[in-house]
Amino acid sequence: MKTYLVTGGAGFIGSNFVHYVLSHHDDVKVVNVDSLTYAGNLENLAAVSEDERYVFVHADICDRSRMRSLVDEFDPDYVVNFAAESHVDRSIENPSVFADTNVLGTISLLDAVRDAWMGADGPGERKYLQVSTDEVYGTLSLDEPDTFFREDTPLSPHSPYSASKASADLFVQAYADTYGLPINITRCSNNYGPYQFPEKLIPLMIHNAQSHEALPVYGDGLNVRDWLYVEDHCKAIDLVLRKGRVGEVYNVGGHNERSNMYIVERIIAELAERLDDPAICTSLIRHVEDRKGHDRRYGIAPDKIKEELGWEPETAFEDGIARTISWYLDNQEWVEHVTSGTYQQYFEHMYGNRKVLS
Ligand code: NAD
Ligand code: TYD
Repeated sequence: MKTYLVTGGAGFIGSNFVHYVLSHHDDVKVVNVDSLTYAGNLENLAAVSEDERYVFVHADICDRSRMRSLVDEFDPDYVVNFAAESHVDRSIENPSVFADTNVLGTISLLDAVRDAWMGADGPGERKYLQVSTDEVYGTLSLDEPDTFFREDTPLSPHSPYSASKASADLFVQAYADTYGLPINITRCSNNYGPYQFPEKLIPLMIHNAQSHEALPVYGDGLNVRDWLYVEDHCKAIDLVLRKGRVGEVYNVGGHNERSNMYIVERIIAELAERLDDPAICTSLIRHVEDRKGHDRRYGIAPDKIKEELGWEPETAFEDGIARTISWYLDNQEWVEHVTSGTYQQYFEHMYGNRKVLS
């Protein structure tokens, strides 16, 4: 029996991971520790809330004594840290909460597991896994499409978000080097799929297009991201936990680089056809003032995880985006709940005064 203590399990990737683990293993317990920020939503976990293998704990990872007592109480084999502030645009507005959660929260968890695991008996087969991002490597150029982020690419973050994630990665590495803590770090590219909060590109565009609202594309729209279907990311994390070499970093990516314009046009085409609605068209696109410090291109070479663990992305982008659009169309109530109230104020604040370029 393996016990997973997952933090941030009520968010986008964390909730997909909870579903993944419970549906792929019988003999597990999953403890989900989440403080339920605007991005955390227990509706994502309604289907497993009665599962006796699942426990929800409402707590903040920055609460040091609580984290320590949870590690003592549940004695997890694996601690998987998803909990974070995750949106680059919010980090540009308010960097300090990113340092609090992403850096200090990570240290609080590291201290809890170090104190619980690094005594006379040692950690055994236990592991701490930090869910990180390719954004810690900085940016690649569009002119060198054959250059990719590798595990030994120097960290060179640009946004407050990626700076906080890179800092956390350095602390995780330092706890491995200093205290011998058994860790892994995964650095994944952009995820998409069910339960993603509609402040991120794909769900925001699906939501706006459906209601014939403007589709705000930053700058020229030629920035490139490597998109991975969320379930493929969950599978990679579970593999790294169970089979990854202790102390190693693994990059995770989809070999699926697309420009933002491509993504937006694909969503428009798919939605217009599904809903038989000609008003969903490219004339909804507005090129708006660019994001400050906007990274041009992210691209991952997931060779190490493929060679060592046999992981490869299984969901082609065309299938993944079709499944994602179906999920949002079938879950209008979920979308309504998360976009009511403060979401309207967020949208007005972030986009209301943004200069329209074309
Ligand atoms: P998300 O914003 O959807 O979810 C974050 C979750 O963390 C929420 O449930 C929130 O309530 C919880 N949380 C925030 N602060 C907390 C705190 N102090 N204590 C406890 N819980 C807290 O994020 P996501 O997109 O699911 O990303 C999850 C992780 O994966 C993050 O660490 C992110 O950096 C990383 N990541 C994300 C992507 C992506 O494309 N979304 C790609 C690579 C890596
Ligand atoms: P996002 O989903 O915020 O992920 P990240 O910044 O972590 O890569 O954004 C993906 C890309 O889409 C990024 O280049 C910024 C761009 N973008 C827009 O053009 N318009 C938008 O409204 C948003 C949210 C993002």
